[in-house]
Amino acid sequence: MSRLAFTALFLATAILPGISEQTVFNSEGHTNSQWTTFTHPIARVAVIGAGPAGLQAAAHLLEANLTVRLFERAPSPGGNWFYTEETPIREAYPYPATRYYEEGEGGIALEERWREHWHPRPVWYTLHTNSPATITRLPGVEHPPDTPWRVSVHNVERHVRAYASLHGLNSNDKPFSSPYSPIAAYATRVEAMQKCNETATWTLTLRRLEWLPESNRLKATYWTENFDAVVIATGHYTTPYVPSIKGIGNWSAAREDGRHSIYHSQSFRHEERYAGKTILIVGASVSSTEIARTIAPFTNRLIASVRNRDARGLDILFGFPEKSEVVPEISSFEPLSAGDIGIKKGKIVLSNGTVIEGVDEIIFATGYRPTHLGGPGTIDSLHWTGHYIHDPTLAYAFTARTWGHGPYQSLAFAKVWTGKARLPSREQMWQDHQSKKYTIALRIHLFLFNLISPQALTRQWVAWLNNESLEFGGKFVEPLPAETHEMLVYFLNTHWSHGLFSHENFTWLENLPHSEWPPAPTNGLDAQELAW
Ligand SMILES: Cc1cc2nc3c(=O)[nH]c(=O)nc-3n(C[C@H](O)[C@H](O)[C@H](O)COP(=O)(O)OP(=O)(O)OC[C@H]3O[C@@H](n4cnc5c(N)ncnc54)[C@H](O)[C@@H]3O)c2cc1C
Ligand SMILES: *[C@@H]1O[C@H](CO)[C@@H](O)[C@H](O)[C@H]1NC(C)=O
Ligand SMILES: *[C@@H]1O[C@H](CO)[C@@H](O)[C@H](O)[C@H]1NC(C)=O
Ligand SMILES: *[C@@H]1O[C@H](CO)[C@@H](O)[C@H](O)[C@H]1NC(C)=O
Ligand SMILES: *[C@@H]1O[C@H](CO)[C@@H](O)[C@H](O)[C@H]1NC(C)=O
Ligand SMILES: *[C@@H]1O[C@H](CO)[C@@H](O)[C@H](O)[C@H]1NC(C)=O
Ligand SMILES: *[C@@H]1O[C@H](CO)[C@@H](O)[C@H](O)[C@H]1NC(C)=O
Repeated sequence: MSRLAFTALFLATAILPGISEQTVFNSEGHTNSQWTTFTHPIARVAVIGAGPAGLQAAAHLLEANLTVRLFERAPSPGGNWFYTEETPIREAYPYPATRYYEEGEGGIALEERWREHWHPRPVWYTLHTNSPATITRLPGVEHPPDTPWRVSVHNVERHVRAYASLHGLNSNDKPFSSPYSPIAAYATRVEAMQKCNETATWTLTLRRLEWLPESNRLKATYWTENFDAVVIATGHYTTPYVPSIKGIGNWSAAREDGRHSIYHSQSFRHEERYAGKTILIVGASVSSTEIARTIAPFTNRLIASVRNRDARGLDILFGFPEKSEVVPEISSFEPLSAGDIGIKKGKIVLSNGTVIEGVDEIIFATGYRPTHLGGPGTIDSLHWTGHYIHDPTLAYAFTARTWGHGPYQSLAFAKVWTGKARLPSREQMWQDHQSKKYTIALRIHLFLFNLISPQALTRQWVAWLNNESLEFGGKFVEPLPAETHEMLVYFLNTHWSHGLFSHENFTWLENLPHSEWPPAPTNGLDAQELAW
């Protein structure tokens, strides 16, 4: 650590009274203390992603008087809920796919570069939430009074944007003088992040794309910025998973009327387009069953291909429509003959030997792969608070069903980094990691369990945050209101499946001492294929 770097850090914090004095830091680094300490004061924090999780993190960090920069690859806030007619650029077949895009690479249309940069969302025009409005909301903004229980994608988008505006984080909340606003930078993708041992800062490599309409060009600007801490809030549903079925490469090139005949569910937008067609949908999770129900009234024939292990559990909740023929998994696609238009004449071989023909389009609703901005394995080494145990200047923000725990998580980042809450020692964090606390926390994105466990997790958040406020000052936080359970139970029984959940399912976990919390169930989904 050079003297110069130290000086620069303190200069940066001098305009923010209180920060450096408040921060628990220790020049020896991690000692055998009971608590984790930071070697450097934390003043500048980057938040990556302007979805429900990232916006809340940014808002709380700002409230704690930290210097915040919010980076979002999309042109507007909303995260998963920012609906556009644009679809993501096409994934490569077969899986595993690695594609590199070179700046100035020939043959790529501008709009394709644009879509590659910001990655349009995997949501469709008539999508409605499968969680009730009452728990799918951000603090301080209301859904309009006549909002139905299941909120349309357009209204969730509006809701998230309203939250962004409330906190000065929206895409138009920026001065004209700068290519990016002092806080939020939209259409700006974080390309890489690197921790420098010397200065103890994170260097983010950033790329902003801008349309230059007068010359019909796209301008890419690359730069770097340094931060003391980083929140990764990039969501789960970006990188599509497509199984590498024999022959899929050949079929992936097939088109009809200029449109690809096989594609991932992330590109699904409008159901009317399916009128009179024979559609094969692959996968048995939420997207496949919801899309199947959406297109069913329009299709001529609807076939759903599911793996054996998919056929239990999830599809009980989100059943395929009456009309669909559920068939076994696909074992291969027979090569298409050169003259074929589309895939209609192609032969699809199922695992039981049956051959299907006459399919117009295939939708792979086969889920997503995790993305690794923090490096592979990072996500497996998180404390339940979201901090990366090896280096707690890095943290992950998640949004589970019941968006209600977002404020606790965001407040925790702000408190820990301003020295107003302590993380346990690294050894203790690893012990927590092995324990059930951890299992519950990190499985929150897994399906059924993510409805019940946040209720128990909330208790953990409230106890810890309030204990720290007692010690270091700060407002006490309240648990989620008790009505949440009742509304959830009512919603699940009316919209999902009758008798699925009872009020006891929630109070049971709430009343159980922490030592008796069960491990999160493994429902047969592996981490490579996030259930969506
Ligand atoms: C089809 C579908 C239906 C769903 N239905 C529901 C539902 O009914 N109820 C519910 O609660 N949840 C639902 N979800 C889950 C949804 O992901 C969450 O509601 C919520 O959007 C998660 O918030 P987030 O902030 O964690 O992530 P996101 O909303 O995904 O936001 C992440 C943001 O990070 C940005 N980003 C990613 N990488 C970078 C980078 N390198 N640089 C800069 N920015 C980056 C992305 O552009 C994005 O804006 C659904 C998801 C899908 C796909
Ligand atoms: C942030 O700064 C403002 C203005 O200086 C001050 O009123 C407020 O108490 C500070 N908040 C925190 C959490 O330190
Ligand atoms: C940075 O520090 C860590 C821990 O002290 C060490 O393991 C790592 O090798 C260092 N990296 C570099 C590039 O010096
Ligand atoms: C294979 O599956 C198809 C579709 O479900 C079914 O019609 C057929 O009878 C099955 N064949 C055998 C041999 O089980
Ligand atoms: C599929 O492969 C066959 C040869 O194996 C080839 O003639 C045909 O053009 C391919 N079809 C597509 C759509 O790529
Ligand atoms: C609560 O604070 C006390 C006093 O600092 C500390 O000893 C204790 O470990 C804290 N408890 C938790 C759960 O963090
Ligand atoms: C809910 O509780 C009932 C018993 O009251 C139990 O049978 C059921 O499995 C529970 N459901 C879940 C999803 O945990």
